[in-house]
Amino acid sequence: MNESPLVNPLREGLSLDRAPEPCILVIFGASGDLTRRKLVPALYALARRRLLPVGFAVVGLARSPMTDDEFRARMRESVEAFSGGGSLEAAIWDDFARSLFYLSADFRAPEGYRSLGAMVSRIDRERATAGNRIFYLALPPSLYVDVIRGLDAAGLARPSNPTSWRRIVIEKPFGRDLASARALNETVSRVFREDQVYRIDHYLGKETVQNILVFRFANSIFEPLWNRRYIDHVQITMAETVGVEERAAYYEEAGAVRDMVQNHMLQLLALTAMEPPVAFEADAVRDEKVKVLRAIRPITPDGAVRGQYGDGWIAGQEVRAYRHEAGVKPDSPRETYAALKLFIENWRWAGVPFYLRTGKRLPKRLTEIAIQFKQPPLLLFGRSPADQVEPNVLVLRIQPDEGISLKFEAKLPGHAIRIRSVLMDFRYATSFGADPMSAYERLLLDCLLGDATLFARRDGVEAAWSVVTPLLQMWEATPPQGFPNYAAGSWGPKEADALIESDGRRWRRL
Ligand code: BG6
Repeated sequence: MNESPLVNPLREGLSLDRAPEPCILVIFGASGDLTRRKLVPALYALARRRLLPVGFAVVGLARSPMTDDEFRARMRESVEAFSGGGSLEAAIWDDFARSLFYLSADFRAPEGYRSLGAMVSRIDRERATAGNRIFYLALPPSLYVDVIRGLDAAGLARPSNPTSWRRIVIEKPFGRDLASARALNETVSRVFREDQVYRIDHYLGKETVQNILVFRFANSIFEPLWNRRYIDHVQITMAETVGVEERAAYYEEAGAVRDMVQNHMLQLLALTAMEPPVAFEADAVRDEKVKVLRAIRPITPDGAVRGQYGDGWIAGQEVRAYRHEAGVKPDSPRETYAALKLFIENWRWAGVPFYLRTGKRLPKRLTEIAIQFKQPPLLLFGRSPADQVEPNVLVLRIQPDEGISLKFEAKLPGHAIRIRSVLMDFRYATSFGADPMSAYERLLLDCLLGDATLFARRDGVEAAWSVVTPLLQMWEATPPQGFPNYAAGSWGPKEADALIESDGRRWRRL
């Protein structure tokens, strides 16, 4: 018998229905961490999957002097260190490395842009990159405006021929409050049309985050329940074990709300709560998301709790308090934890609380969205305290252990009616195998393809800032009392428990 190899059709990877057009990706901030840890490893992974255009080049820009070969050698080390996808394949690397170029330039000086212009024109001729450009701002936000103006003044932001295009990718943080985000949007919009702008939020590139929409809108059984009639509340948790690491300079300015809530958490909330879009297209999806953000009721002082970690233990390791981390002020008021209670005032969600919590130095690294359903209207069973009926919970596990589980009640075998909770569980790793695209791979590829569905639009970013800016101002005006207020390795301050328990609910035990 002729045995065909066993193929799991569910393992099929991404198949593109169109190929990206040739282009040059210009990375501002090529000597930085983001380029090393995320961007170049993601580009190499795309090369390995043969998803990069044939005419393609990367120009890394930074101030430090370096030759193309030195840049290539550094990037090779980065790919080896940060790819996580097995060892580097020499032939693929050599081919990819030929598309890497480096330019030492000052972003604030016009000569830098002149040199860039000369370099990209030369590469266009040598590598058939067709005059198309993506400018990626992998820089501290204080430099964004200089670069946008520099590109404009040098004429690099305008297409060089009638069929070529320009796109710009802007990293987070996009502003530090509503006013600064608006000002940045103004500057950007003077130079680029909105459809050229890709504001990146790497959470949207995660497979499990994209699956929220598929789960909700490619199935018919959950959507009828997805509203205030059946859902008691929603809990979104984004817990990290890491502390501030080497990012104190940034984090002292940011804090948990700017770092995680304004972007990643509100994106998860919007995907969970949005109405079905009329099409799976950038504007249709983003229209619905922005409506959710605009419907969030202003946060009240008793609807938010902040925390900062003190000394403690994580996985058997003693770790020090935030205020003792290198680069942190000894009396820093910056929050490393935030818990919020939000209400979305629309027909679907009125009265359903969305509890959000995020923190550094919590006991586990875990992101999930838990939808807790209402209790049945009449409790036929489980009248004794030992046999309480638990509510149904649907959990979308974003990371790690990616999957979806549904908890429901079942009868224990035996004569008596005894009830226990059981789980129905879907796990990505088991069903689909384990080579998902990383978030940056996905988002870079989308940008190459000109698909902005998974990027934030101007109104979306501003709507998200509108939600958190009043809270940030409130906190700014009233310095925190009693920081640090949770031990590293614990689940956050006790006030966060009170936030949810005063409503007769509990944080999930994770
Ligand atoms: C970043 C934040 O945007 O997201 C970090 O700046 C945080 O502070 C990180 O650690 C978390 O991302 P992930 O993909 O590891 O969950």
